[in-house]
Amino acid sequence: MPRVRVAVNGYGTIGKRVADAITLQDDMLLVGVSKTRPNYEALAAAGKGYKLYVPEGREEEFEQKGIRVSGTIEEMISKSDIVVDATPGGVGAKYKPLYVKHGVKAVFQGGEKPSVAEASFNSLCNYAEALGKSSLRVVSCNTTGLLRLICVLNREIGVRSVRAVIARRAADPKEVGKGPVNAIILNPPSLPSHHGVDVKTVLPWLDIATAAVVVPTTLMHVHTVIARLKRNTGVSEIIGILEQAPRIILVDSGKTGVRSTAELAEIARDQGRPRGDIPELIVWADSIRVDGDEVMLFQAVHQESIVIPENIDAIRAAASLASDPWESISKTDSTLGLKRWW
Ligand SMILES: NC(=O)c1ccc[n+]([C@@H]2O[C@H](COP(=O)([O-])OP(=O)(O)OC[C@H]3O[C@@H](n4cnc5c(N)ncnc54)[C@H](OP(=O)(O)O)[C@@H]3O)[C@@H](O)[C@H]2O)c1
Repeated sequence: MPRVRVAVNGYGTIGKRVADAITLQDDMLLVGVSKTRPNYEALAAAGKGYKLYVPEGREEEFEQKGIRVSGTIEEMISKSDIVVDATPGGVGAKYKPLYVKHGVKAVFQGGEKPSVAEASFNSLCNYAEALGKSSLRVVSCNTTGLLRLICVLNREIGVRSVRAVIARRAADPKEVGKGPVNAIILNPPSLPSHHGVDVKTVLPWLDIATAAVVVPTTLMHVHTVIARLKRNTGVSEIIGILEQAPRIILVDSGKTGVRSTAELAEIARDQGRPRGDIPELIVWADSIRVDGDEVMLFQAVHQESIVIPENIDAIRAAASLASDPWESISKTDSTLGLKRWW
């Protein structure tokens, strides 16, 4: 079977991880990645043997630093069947006319407005609806974390409503100029936050409201979630459902001593996971409290990597490489080594 040719436009936090994940898929071929600046990330991409494409007229800046350029970003797009746009929020919309001009399908990221794509996407929620679409938007890291939990509970029991409070990391580790260093910021001060609104781009029927604060850490986000289900349940049933679910790992703080994002990050590094990534949603099993039909729990989201499996599935859905969501999900998860923890 011929592989689908995929370009990655924007080789930053998300783009570099998506590019690596594409190279692990036997139904995809990485055409190349784009950079606008000849910095350490460009050197790293070239060092991995990835073909580098740059804006027209900028080739010499790269060549002067000894970084081989394979062509312009437009040339990269013209050689591809599908592009994963991982440029900064709002930049993807500016590239959209170029993708349309070359008849190339596009997978955008959560920093874009929902209107950039035909559908917002999460593998566990709406893979079937995304099949064959010309453009998809993989929702943000926090939205992806919320949707994984909600769609798993909805499939098994049914979800009526969700309320969640999000403690957001202030910056990614490489973002040297961002803060706060010593404050907790209401994000935004007026409620609700945009995260619940973003969940509704995938699940328009859901009664959901969220609040968020920004905290001085780079490691992960932590959510406090309260979900009202369609019937009464119990802690052991919820644990059983989450244990069986793809892309969710249960951690017991009593057994493991893990009660922070720092310890989760340390486990990922101890395990030798690439870049210390945790693409799974982490749920603290011993945080789960059930009162009738109401479930309350803590979960953690590794912002840099949680959307990577969803990007791979979005490529497969848009390119119609697999019509069955579970075929794509299990292929993605086995190639990325997901849910192998202890
Ligand atoms: N980081 C997260 O936690 C996270 C999580 C989920 C979703 N997202 C979303 O993913 C998207 C990308 O975010 P990110 O965190 O990966 O950003 P990032 O680390 O800043 O990476 C974006 C990359 O795009 C490149 N770029 C900038 N302008 C460009 C242009 N005009 N053409 C081509 N490339 C350009 C930059 O590379 P140069 O150095 O070459 O300019 C930069 O490395 C955003 O929509 C964001 O909201 C981010």
